[in-house]
Amino acid sequence: MIPEWFSNAKLGIFIHYGIYAVNGIAESWSFYNGRISYEDYMKQLNGFTASKFDAEKWADLIEKSGAKYAVLTTKHHDGVALFDTKYSDLSVMKKTPAKRDIVKEYAQALREHNIRVGMYYSLIDWSHPDYPSVYTDGKVPEDLSTVNRFSSPTDGVQDEETWKKFLEFNNHQLAEVLGNYGKVDLLWFDGDWERSAEQWGLPEFKDYLKSFNPELIINSRLAGHGDYKTPEQGLPITRPEGAWEFCTTVNDSWGWQARDTHYKSLNQIIRMFTDCISMGGNLLLDIGPKEDGSIDERQEALLLGLGKWIHTHEEAVFGTKEGIMTRYWTGGSTISEDNKTLYLFVHDNPKESICLKGLCNKIKKITVLHSGKELTYDILGGVPWFNIPGATWINLTAQDCHENVTVVKIELEGEIEMYGGSGAVVTHN
Ligand code: GLC
Repeated sequence: MIPEWFSNAKLGIFIHYGIYAVNGIAESWSFYNGRISYEDYMKQLNGFTASKFDAEKWADLIEKSGAKYAVLTTKHHDGVALFDTKYSDLSVMKKTPAKRDIVKEYAQALREHNIRVGMYYSLIDWSHPDYPSVYTDGKVPEDLSTVNRFSSPTDGVQDEETWKKFLEFNNHQLAEVLGNYGKVDLLWFDGDWERSAEQWGLPEFKDYLKSFNPELIINSRLAGHGDYKTPEQGLPITRPEGAWEFCTTVNDSWGWQARDTHYKSLNQIIRMFTDCISMGGNLLLDIGPKEDGSIDERQEALLLGLGKWIHTHEEAVFGTKEGIMTRYWTGGSTISEDNKTLYLFVHDNPKESICLKGLCNKIKKITVLHSGKELTYDILGGVPWFNIPGATWINLTAQDCHENVTVVKIELEGEIEMYGGSGAVVTHN
């Protein structure tokens, strides 16, 4: 079972911080895909200063964004640890001018702000000499020229012993991440796809991880053994089963890339957020700090704007669950825990009114959440003696609307009941 705090958190902030911010290139993938040589990629170590890194500032911004948890890249696929590790020299402590344990400061600051601590850890390590020792699923590919040397051996020969050594190394580093920084609430794996569940040593591996904290939540990137789903960059249309979290970037990049100015607007981010919570999921919104640890003002403004909106509309966000189908109401919605209040998200300014279909309950009161203004409504059509409800036309005008997403609060008599039939011929009147 997923701990309660997670499904009620609604928003998390993802932080991709690493040496890739020095040149402003894609995290890890840039050398893996040959856009830069491995040597040149690693030269970024010399430019990683963290000179303005202030974990307290990060935590303050995260809190102001309305998020209840954060997830930091403690180590991306490039293998560069943001924490002090005994098991490798490849860390910002040992190999960069920063010489700081970023993870330590991050975890401390989050806790002071009552924000749950999440650690991203890449299962893949494209820098570790023992990593490219086997093939995915143990299958040697027919065409060896397709093999990437960072992932697997290029000569077709697998070395199980070396792979075992790599797994031990991973376990050691994970013990550091999960054991040296107080209680970790969430472990966010990435890169499970390069090996099978068996190769990762599952399910025993999961027991090992949970031994550090039995309540630890692990995302889905664990070869079928994770606790919740993590759709990425493309918003789900069908609700993912069980607990889920949608991770996405504020622009097109996970890490800091100066040339990427393709930012989503505040309004678009708020809409995405309401879309997620309408389908019972969380949003994990990513930012990419610069190499010095400062956060670009556009990214900061988006987080603050989202936080302001959440703060104004708190009761429609926290303590709520998945809303009604969009066939009833197109903009998305949430329902209070007691099932007696429905919150509609209104994306655009209406012409004269908005229409909610299929509501069976009597209505106690309808208000605009941010202003408290009470709205009138009219019920048109319906065949009450057949239990087929009419449509509820709520008189919401453009003047009543919030500058971003408007929330209309509908208080109901009794627990919400929606009509789901196909209509009927009225055989008696
Ligand atoms: C992808 C990428 C990675 C990024 C992650 C975030 O799986 O491998 O670069 O960190 O998504 O979800």
